[in-house]
Amino acid sequence: MSFDRSIKIAPSILSADFADFGREIRAVEDQGADWVHVDVMDGHFVPNLTFGPPAVAAFRRHVTTVMDVHLMIAPVDPYIEAFAEAGADIITAHLEAGAHTHRTLQAIRATGKKAGLAINPGTGLDDVEYLLDLADLVCIMTVNPGFGGQKFIHSQIDKVRRLRAMIGDRPVHIEIDGGVTPRTAPLVAAAGGDVLVAGSAVFKGGSAEAPAPYGANIRAIRAAAEAACGAAA
Ligand code: DX5
Ligand code: ZN
Repeated sequence: MSFDRSIKIAPSILSADFADFGREIRAVEDQGADWVHVDVMDGHFVPNLTFGPPAVAAFRRHVTTVMDVHLMIAPVDPYIEAFAEAGADIITAHLEAGAHTHRTLQAIRATGKKAGLAINPGTGLDDVEYLLDLADLVCIMTVNPGFGGQKFIHSQIDKVRRLRAMIGDRPVHIEIDGGVTPRTAPLVAAAGGDVLVAGSAVFKGGSAEAPAPYGANIRAIRAAAEAACGAAA
């Protein structure tokens, strides 16, 4: 089977109702989410605090698709095992989180999980090259990590294009995280992104009780991205 580079929409539950995660996760999955993106922040690597492994384990009971765990924490290595046990399918660590990202990616794969490598908007691709064979996903941050609802940074589009060329035939996803909307999705999809994380643009206008807007938002992002892929092909 060939590697799946089709567009996947990964709602970030950072924009969900924090008092109702179970229903929010089920609602976005019912409304067409392909993956569920979980943003783990430590108040040190990024200036915000979110979830630890027990919360992620609780989310797992509701996720039936793919639980994509984005670790914005430093150090990261001491916590890999705990997030693997919490049920992450993909564990993504930042290149900027430590000096030994090669070892970090090996440690993630040693747990049997898929390994992701995230890079901040100010980080270039030079240090990514020798890590590509250890990564199942590279996450290009299109905002500075820490908060939802920020403005998309357009300079990252060229980085996505260059990363896509660098990846070549390797089975590595390109994930785009931050400021993804129906307006920005086509730009990154045409450049080679296939996993589109979106928090505010998915959750806006809806709720777990009235989730139809989630579905409309997901479809709008997907349609815009797919149209751009068709145009680029
Ligand atoms: C930012 C997080 C993102 C964030 C995206 O640090 O990694 O996943 O939730 O939120 P939006 O889509 O609102 O920019
Ligand atoms: Zn994220």
